[in-house]
Amino acid sequence: MAIDQEIKKLRQEIEKHNKLYHEDDSPEISDAEYDALYQRLKELEALSSNSKINSPTLQVGGKPKRGFEKHTHLKPMLSLSNVFNDEEFKKFDERVIKWVGENDINYSVEPKFDGIGISITYEKGTLVKAVTRGDGLVGELVTENVLQISKIPKKIETNAPKIIELRGEIFFRLKDFENINKQIEEANGKKFISPRNAAAGTIRNLDIDVVKSRPLDIFFYGLGGHSDDLKIQSYQDFVEFLKQNNFPVNDLIFFSNKSEVSNHVQRILSSRDELEYEIDGAVIKVNDFQKQNKLGFVSKAPRWAVAWKFPASEKFTTVNDILFSVGRTGVVTPFAQIEPVILSGARISNVSLHNMDELKRLDIKVNDTVLVKRAGDVIPQIVKVNFDMRNSDKVIDVNVPLKCPSCETKLILDGPFLKCSNGLNCKKQLLGFFEHFVSRKAMNIEGLGYKINKHLIALGYVGEVADLYKLQRYEEELKALEGFGEKSIDNLFESIESSRNPDLERFINALGMPEVGETTAAALARFFKSFESLRKASFSDLMQMDNIGEVVAKHIVHFFANETIGLDNLLAEINIKDFIVGEDSHLDNLKIVITGSFNGYSRDELKQIIKEKGGIPSASISSKIDFLILGENPGSKLKKAQELGINVITEQNIKEFLKL
Ligand code: IVH
Repeated sequence: MAIDQEIKKLRQEIEKHNKLYHEDDSPEISDAEYDALYQRLKELEALSSNSKINSPTLQVGGKPKRGFEKHTHLKPMLSLSNVFNDEEFKKFDERVIKWVGENDINYSVEPKFDGIGISITYEKGTLVKAVTRGDGLVGELVTENVLQISKIPKKIETNAPKIIELRGEIFFRLKDFENINKQIEEANGKKFISPRNAAAGTIRNLDIDVVKSRPLDIFFYGLGGHSDDLKIQSYQDFVEFLKQNNFPVNDLIFFSNKSEVSNHVQRILSSRDELEYEIDGAVIKVNDFQKQNKLGFVSKAPRWAVAWKFPASEKFTTVNDILFSVGRTGVVTPFAQIEPVILSGARISNVSLHNMDELKRLDIKVNDTVLVKRAGDVIPQIVKVNFDMRNSDKVIDVNVPLKCPSCETKLILDGPFLKCSNGLNCKKQLLGFFEHFVSRKAMNIEGLGYKINKHLIALGYVGEVADLYKLQRYEEELKALEGFGEKSIDNLFESIESSRNPDLERFINALGMPEVGETTAAALARFFKSFESLRKASFSDLMQMDNIGEVVAKHIVHFFANETIGLDNLLAEINIKDFIVGEDSHLDNLKIVITGSFNGYSRDELKQIIKEKGGIPSASISSKIDFLILGENPGSKLKKAQELGINVITEQNIKEFLKL
């Protein structure tokens, strides 16, 4: 690659990773990889005579600060094992009794806050550092940011030991979280999905002004490492010590023996909806510190504490309307507009009703009272209608449309799905297709969010996808659009330009064929090697592949025979890279599933490595899978793989397996 071209690419890469790291709080590469990119850019810039005016290497302060200094905790910050009911708690208690050798244990019960753990060190009574949990052993020094939380005492006035680590949870109150998201939305930024994410994004923010502008809050609940001069015998004493020194401590901390624990947990659970912050369970701790020490810990969790996790949050609310929206494949999906409720920290105002069968199953009507549920980050759903609350004078039947709400084409019923068959002539489908086409795992064009896409289509600048590549014609008009600065339009143009040479699998994914997602796109790329041979493929050619079934094969043939995306025009604008297996193809054709998380690699990085070495990253376990790569906190996949006798690669063996 010519130097200037590489410089341009590197700059875009670095800007992208800066944004992922600083604005989205979701880095995709390690600090070491980032440093390598940055170093390479600096070297090349030294060789080039071209201007560096727009380069990230010229930003004020030199290399953008990417991280915080690391710090090792005096005592590790542990995680907790879980129980979900009385029976499981009983087992926990029995284990405690066995280890302690005493029968009647005194416990504390308190809420489990859904925020970000922090360890704050005081030396001779003065706050000297604040460190994030990190991997439990080593965290990041975020002292400056933590100092912005006014509720945290800067000094321990009473009975301060020489050194002490105090542990707590940093979080946002729900109303503050909503305000922050409102401000972000007004500034066209990306909203946080939960108060927890917002707290994480704020405490690790490198811009102190951003931290100052957001009212973080904290509860203290734990003792880390400390010097011997701290004379505290129990958690109860410790809570007293905290209160005496004005550390914020939660009101709902109870002390009792095991017979009352379950009642206290229920008490906390029943106050959950009234709390101004998110909790996701209760934490139960052995009160006596001597007993805690006797119990010690196993793997990464103490034997003296346990989290009693609450079920997913559910709330009743009313249905204000039932409407229909058109998706990119023409499916017209019913959804309920509900009186907004906050579930697991997110404000829910629209809930999908999926299809006509689901509408019938729920027997839902406008003005009904419904139970809405959301488990963690999972999409909200309507569990049931509360028929006892139905007022037959007030409820209104669903008004099922006969014509497409976007283009007025007559709708057809295909199984349980209502469909608009107008393809990309329907503006809503065109918009949906565009969103998919430019998305990160497709053509990866940045700066084309919902809002600008909508403008481009409404103004007629983009009637088919090939028009994206001719957008520079409208440079002046776009720069004059309200809410889109010159710089953002320039960035958009650059991003469009750099998408002109997509990998084959990305491009196949971008086409948005029904049933062809990321995994199938990768398999098609491997098998057909070039776009032209895929395009020419007959039904029986496709059926030669062992991971494609009849339905998918039919969809693909049908797509190429009837496509409405303006494929030829698009192909005239871009240059698709053929699929090439690298020199090391020792994973040739092996189907590999990844589960859990890994130290040092993101899952996307692992997938990329597998692909480069000829393997096929796959989404779910079946008898066709050759290997399961197992990270930390795996879900149900391990059990299924073991049942099917699939080879499991553990984290220790990954390097060897992938030949890294
Ligand atoms: S005690 C050794 N108490 O939950 C355990 N932790 O899953 C010390 N957490 O990393 C933790 N509320 O960040 C404790 N009331 C509470 C808590 C709490 C939230 C978090 C904490 C910890 C995680 C463990």
